[in-house]
Amino acid sequence: MPETRNPICVAIDTPDMERAGFLAQSLKGHVGYLKVGMEFFYAHGQAGYLEMAQHGVPIFLDLKLHDIPNTVANGLNALMQLEITPAMINVHATGGPAMLKAASQAIDGRAKLIAVTILTSLDNDDLKAAGFNPEMSTCDHATNLAKLAKANGVDGIVCSPHDLQSIRTACGDDFLTVVPGIRPQGSDVQDQKRIATPKSALESGADILVIGRAITGAADPVKAAQDILVSLSK
Ligand code: C5P
Repeated sequence: MPETRNPICVAIDTPDMERAGFLAQSLKGHVGYLKVGMEFFYAHGQAGYLEMAQHGVPIFLDLKLHDIPNTVANGLNALMQLEITPAMINVHATGGPAMLKAASQAIDGRAKLIAVTILTSLDNDDLKAAGFNPEMSTCDHATNLAKLAKANGVDGIVCSPHDLQSIRTACGDDFLTVVPGIRPQGSDVQDQKRIATPKSALESGADILVIGRAITGAADPVKAAQDILVSLSK
């Protein structure tokens, strides 16, 4: 994975090629990673991905694969043929041990493999509605899934800032933590439920902060990214 000390991973959540290119070009040097997700990849495919990767900022390809082991392994293998490989790519930890192991073997160190634990848009009531054990909190579920991912060769997880301390304790310091649900002080919560400020997420053990609308929806995205970096060093 290319070295970057800047923990901001900006989520380029748009199907608009021109807007995505503008964001990548202007945020280069101000963020550590670009996150390219389903909205963009389904609209523009590998050609669009490569246009984004050409800006030289390491890419987190956030496609959240979730299928049987063979399908996920073959899907990842196809993605690893990209001319510029992503720095990070992800699957859902709820895919289970065999799927996680197959994913890790398919990647074979060509990118960091990250597993999504519990989406930050879900809270205890949502998990209960989906049939998860109501005796366990979202944090318990996320920690179990993180342990499962680690035990099956995954390099790190996506988790809520609220689950960080528990996951750090369970999985140790060299397990990568990629953390969405980040909202700078005073900004709109929108559809996220379990949020933290950039500074408090880092203090709780986040390695990478996934930040979308707080940067991409700002009138001046570069200034928004710079302000977040300043807030981290205060
Ligand atoms: O705009 P906002 O900062 O809420 O964007 C968060 C980004 O992180 C989105 O791209 C979303 O898909 C992603 N994400 C998330 N929760 C997860 C995994 C990914 O919000 N558990």
